[in-house]
Amino acid sequence: MTHDDQRWWHDAVIYEVYVRSFADGDGDGIGDLAGIRSRLPYLVDLGVDALWITPCYPSPMADGGYDVADYRDVDPLFGTLDDARALLADARAAGLKVIVDIVPNHTSSAHAWFQAALAAEPGSPERARYVFRPGRGEDPPNDWESVFGGRAWTRLPDGDWYLHLFDTTQPDLDWSNHEVRAEFESVLRFWLDLGVDGFRVDVAHGMVKQDGLPDAGTAGQHGLLESRPLPYFDQDGVHEVYREWRKVLDTYQPPRIAVAEAWTAAPERTARYVRPDELHQAFNFHYLTAEWDAAALRRVITESLAAMAPVGAPATWVLSNHDVRRHVTRYGGGETGLRRARAAILLMLALPGSVYLYQGEELGLEEILDLPDELRQDPVWERSGHTDPGRDGCRVPLPWTTGGSALGFGPDGSTPWLPQPAHWAGLSAQAQAGDPASVLELYRSALRLRRTFSANDFDWADSGGEVITVRRGGFGCAVNLGKDTARVPAARVVLASGPYTVDGDELLLPTDTAVWWQD
Ligand code: GLC
Repeated sequence: MTHDDQRWWHDAVIYEVYVRSFADGDGDGIGDLAGIRSRLPYLVDLGVDALWITPCYPSPMADGGYDVADYRDVDPLFGTLDDARALLADARAAGLKVIVDIVPNHTSSAHAWFQAALAAEPGSPERARYVFRPGRGEDPPNDWESVFGGRAWTRLPDGDWYLHLFDTTQPDLDWSNHEVRAEFESVLRFWLDLGVDGFRVDVAHGMVKQDGLPDAGTAGQHGLLESRPLPYFDQDGVHEVYREWRKVLDTYQPPRIAVAEAWTAAPERTARYVRPDELHQAFNFHYLTAEWDAAALRRVITESLAAMAPVGAPATWVLSNHDVRRHVTRYGGGETGLRRARAAILLMLALPGSVYLYQGEELGLEEILDLPDELRQDPVWERSGHTDPGRDGCRVPLPWTTGGSALGFGPDGSTPWLPQPAHWAGLSAQAQAGDPASVLELYRSALRLRRTFSANDFDWADSGGEVITVRRGGFGCAVNLGKDTARVPAARVVLASGPYTVDGDELLLPTDTAVWWQD
C-alpha cells in the first residue's frame, strides 16, 4: 500500500452529494443511487477525490432522510443495497472514495426502537434508549428548544415527554445507554464491511447531554451555530464515543475515516473532535460563516491552522452545504456574489488540508429564494411558524443539460421535486463545459493544478492589508478583498478568477479577484 492510500484524506477534495437533488435515474423526480452512478464520470472530470453521500436509509423523509428508520438498508426512493454495492464498486473503479452519512443523535419516530418505546410503559427498557422524562407539572421537563424552532419536547398521551432537538419525528437517543452504543458500532461495521471509506457524523456535537438536563436559558434562540455553552451540545462525554468508534475504524485497511459535523464555539473546541484517538476531520464552520472580509478570513485561517496543529489533524475548509445559503448568495448575490465566489474557491483551494465542496457550487448556483411556499419541504418552515424559509433554496435539483423538462436532472418528461429556475439551463454542466470563462472550467482547472502543489508547505506572504497572499512552495495565491484595484508584484499567473492587467513589474488585481501564480 502506498503512502497516499494511508493519508488520502489529508488533502482530499470531497464533494457533497445531496442525494435527493443530484441526479434522478428512475424519473420519479427524486435523485437516487442510479443517478449518482451515471454521473461519476463528471466527478472524475471535475477532479475531486471523494464523495460524501447524504443519508439513503429507509426514512419517512420528514427531514430529507436525516430521520432514519433502519440503519442497515436503502430507501426504495433511492434504490437498494445492491445499488449501494454497485455504486461503491463503480466509484472504486473510477478512483473515487465514498463517505456515507451516519445519524447517531436521533432516529426517526418510525424506527422499530421508537415504535417499541411508544408501545411500552414509562420507565421501561424500551423507553430508556431515548430521552423520556416526566414533565414539570403540565410543562415540559426543561426549557430546551428545537434547532428547527419550537420546543424540543413532545408529550405522549400517557404523560411522558420525549426529547427531540430537531423535528418531533426525530427523537434523541440516550447515549448513556449501552445498547445504543453497541448498536451504532454494529451499524458502522455493517457499512465498513460493505466497502465505504468513511462516515460523515451528523450532529457529532450532540448525542451526549449534560447530567440532569438543566435549563439552557436560551428561550427564543435556536440554530446549530451557538457560541455559548449549551447543555445539549459539545459535552465532554461525547469524546468517549469517538474513542470507541476510532477503534472500530482502525481495524480496517486502508484506513477508514470519519468527519464530524460539529458546530462549536471556537476552532479549539472543534479540534477536540480530531485528537489522534478520535475522528479524522471536522467541518470548519468557522470558515464557512466568516464574512467576505480580509481581516476576518485571515483570522479564521490563522486560528484554524493553530487549533489543528497540536492535535496533528488536517484543517478542513468549506463554503457551502445542504444546510446553509449558497455562498454566491451569502457573498452578495448576482454578479458581485459570483465574482467573490470565483475568487473564494481559488483562496480555499490554496489552503493546506482538505476541502469540502457542495454540489452545484462548481456551476456557480445561487440560493433559490422565491420557491412557492406550498412546495417547501424543510421542517424548519413549519416549525418556525413560517418565519424561516428553511433550507430548500440550496437543495434545488442540479441542472445538467440545457434542455429537457428536468434540465437533465432526470429523464425528459420527469418533474424534479423542487422546480428549477428557467435560467439554470444556461448554468447547466452542459452549457458550461468547455467554456474557459465558466465557473465549471475554473473549478476543473483549479482542482487539476492543486494536485501539483497541495503537498507543499504553507506560508503567509501577506502584509496584512486588503490583499490576502499565501504561498505553497513555488505556488502562490493573491486575492483582493478591498474596494479598489490593488497592485501586486507581477508573476507567472497560472489561473485567475477574473480579468486582471499587467503594468510593468506589477499586476493590477481588481476587487474580488484572485490569481494563482507559479515561480
Ligand atoms: C444535520 C444535517 C441536517 C439535519 C440535522 C438533523 O445538521 O446536516 O440536514 O437536518 O442534522 O439530522
